[in-house]
Amino acid sequence: MRAHGGRAPEGVIDFSAPLNPLGPPEGLAEIVEELARSRSYTRYPDYEYRELREALASYYGLDEEEVVPLNGAAEALNLLVELLRPRAVITFEPTFGDHKAYLRALRIPWITLPLGRRRFALEAELLCSLPAEVRRGSLVLLSNPNNPTGHLARREELEKALECSSYLLVDEAFADFTLDAESMLGRGAFVARSLTKILAIPGLRAGFLYAPREARKVDAIRQPWNVNSLAAAALARFLREGDMRGFVRRSAEVLGREGEFLLSALSSLGLRAFPSAAPFLLAEHAVPHPLFNSLLAKRGVYVRDASSFHYLTPYHSRISVRLREENVRLVEAIRGAVAEGP
Ligand SMILES: Cc1ncc(COP(=O)(O)O)c(C=O)c1O
Repeated sequence: MRAHGGRAPEGVIDFSAPLNPLGPPEGLAEIVEELARSRSYTRYPDYEYRELREALASYYGLDEEEVVPLNGAAEALNLLVELLRPRAVITFEPTFGDHKAYLRALRIPWITLPLGRRRFALEAELLCSLPAEVRRGSLVLLSNPNNPTGHLARREELEKALECSSYLLVDEAFADFTLDAESMLGRGAFVARSLTKILAIPGLRAGFLYAPREARKVDAIRQPWNVNSLAAAALARFLREGDMRGFVRRSAEVLGREGEFLLSALSSLGLRAFPSAAPFLLAEHAVPHPLFNSLLAKRGVYVRDASSFHYLTPYHSRISVRLREENVRLVEAIRGAVAEGP
């Protein structure tokens, strides 16, 4: 079964879905509404996605020949598995989990390596020390910053992972949330990016795959109209005309500040909270799930039980970073839950 955040009960503040707490940027809703009024959804999108491709390439400083628009970053792994037919997929755990069920269904061997024990840091050496026959033909999947730990791997580690891989996919779904993203865009690896998270549009959805030398082949296997016409037109226009750069910078600043606030507040309540470059942080607590979430829900908040992630337990939660007033509500709720719990 797939396990995701974003399933909070009615009426509580949702700290389980990892999205931009600022919500969509100014101007985006107007563009979507205008396109909906002109019934853009009654037309097929341009299956080459020329405008969107050009807008994405120009914003991220890439060659448009190497960019494939996606219906969210989640599409990237499926497309690459289909294209590359890897002998195995290698992941560093704990990490974002959709690949588990997917690889099992396709009967593709899945090799897990642990992230470092102290701060869940990536140690590429572990990958490099696997026998060459195991690495040859395998696809290595990393998420940076990583979900659910929020840890940002340094570029030297990523470059080393690239050197030791036949194929490397870096999932940078949360990279726009941090000012020093250590991005692997333009550095030889496959990179998946999401606009869904930073623009807080999980229903509209968008992202892209940076696929040096292979974009044409990925285009050939993707579903012809994978991004719907409303999302494609709205995002191309927003990237061209809206203040994407300003919004991204503001978001990273707010999240940096609020992340620090939560980190120190949760630590002072006795939780073990991990520094994060993403819009969430991982915390370990003495009260286990599901009790922890039911004590929190009584107090109006809800977090992501992280026990479905490899190596994590019912004593772990992934907690989204929201705006100050809501973060204060969360801290108070956790204070109450810790006092009432066993
Ligand atoms: C690491 C990671 N990659 C990709 C996704 C999915 O992104 P999108 O909604 O753009 O498909 C998620 C969603 O939580 C994620 O955590």
